[in-house]
Amino acid sequence: MPMKSIKGLRTFAVILVVLSFVATGFAFDKVKFAAISDPHISIPQQKGVSDGYKLGLKTVMLTEAAVAEINKIPDLNFVLVAGDLTQDAEPWNIDELRRILDGLNVPYYVTLGNHDLSLVPHEKKDQPMSLSKYTVAGAFIGRSGGMVPGMTYYSHEVAKDLVLVTLDTSRAQVFVPEAGLNDFGGKIHTGQMRWLESVLKQNQNKTIMILTHHSLVPWHDGDRTNHNYWRWFWIDNAEEVRALLKKYGVKLVFSGHRHISTRYQHVDDIYHFITPALSTYPMRYTVYEMTPKTIKYEVKDVPAPAEVWELARKNFLANKWWRGPDHPETPEGNKKYLEFYESNWTTKGEVTFK
Ligand SMILES: [Fe+2]
Ligand SMILES: [Fe+2]
Repeated sequence: MPMKSIKGLRTFAVILVVLSFVATGFAFDKVKFAAISDPHISIPQQKGVSDGYKLGLKTVMLTEAAVAEINKIPDLNFVLVAGDLTQDAEPWNIDELRRILDGLNVPYYVTLGNHDLSLVPHEKKDQPMSLSKYTVAGAFIGRSGGMVPGMTYYSHEVAKDLVLVTLDTSRAQVFVPEAGLNDFGGKIHTGQMRWLESVLKQNQNKTIMILTHHSLVPWHDGDRTNHNYWRWFWIDNAEEVRALLKKYGVKLVFSGHRHISTRYQHVDDIYHFITPALSTYPMRYTVYEMTPKTIKYEVKDVPAPAEVWELARKNFLANKWWRGPDHPETPEGNKKYLEFYESNWTTKGEVTFK
């Protein structure tokens, strides 16, 4: 073979190697993402919507304000939305949320909350029309939401070697007379557990992060002792799910539902982060920067007029149900109640994975 052809072959081989590197890329070295939760969208034109503990009339405005702020963050890769997307799965609220979230400059990934599935009618309440969770999930298929047809949970590689797994944790919205509430609890049923294990197995060599509405851990003593049915804030089979995640080396779980400001716990080798609600005091979202070894977070207030903040705080303080046994309506109790929900001691932080 002439010298020239050998050189040509070598150059060709080098180009092939370089091209294959470009095609496969490297594992992510850093991703930046925002997390929002519990927008509970209820368009103000809907009958019966009001500003209570949840600022029903302001949910559209608050979610739009969060999206506008998130769009200003440089180098953002994606946004997580941790469920309770709507008031109660009403078609008009699903449309409105989809419109707002489609205003994001980056892909977003949703999971369903206990309010995103059909309400079972009962004699106690004049309920609006609500849709099946499969229909709600169907509104968020693909880049706009991450869902896949026919499912209410999914996995998606959000960056090279970084897999997001979302879970559907909610039970049916059935009225429980002794609680005077619709069941807001959760569990991951057998079929979903099998799916979860197969996804974890397939992605063992990658970083896996979980997005769920209900937590896998309690956040307050009352969540353990079932004060006001607070056991429903974390899933029934939390231990079983944590053991499965631990088995496959999952390091991160992001949840919503608890309506407390961002903080984390390290349980069963997993960092459990909680995401505040957009619709209740203190209306906040979180910005994360993650590498395969670390995660940094910063909590931000949703920009809103001073009178909206005042109203949110006033309605928060007036509420009895969200208070723990250690939060009586006394100056000291109010202080503890505010501290627990604001968690101002941890509005930013950094974790190195063990
Ligand atoms: Fe919620
Ligand atoms: Fe919830």
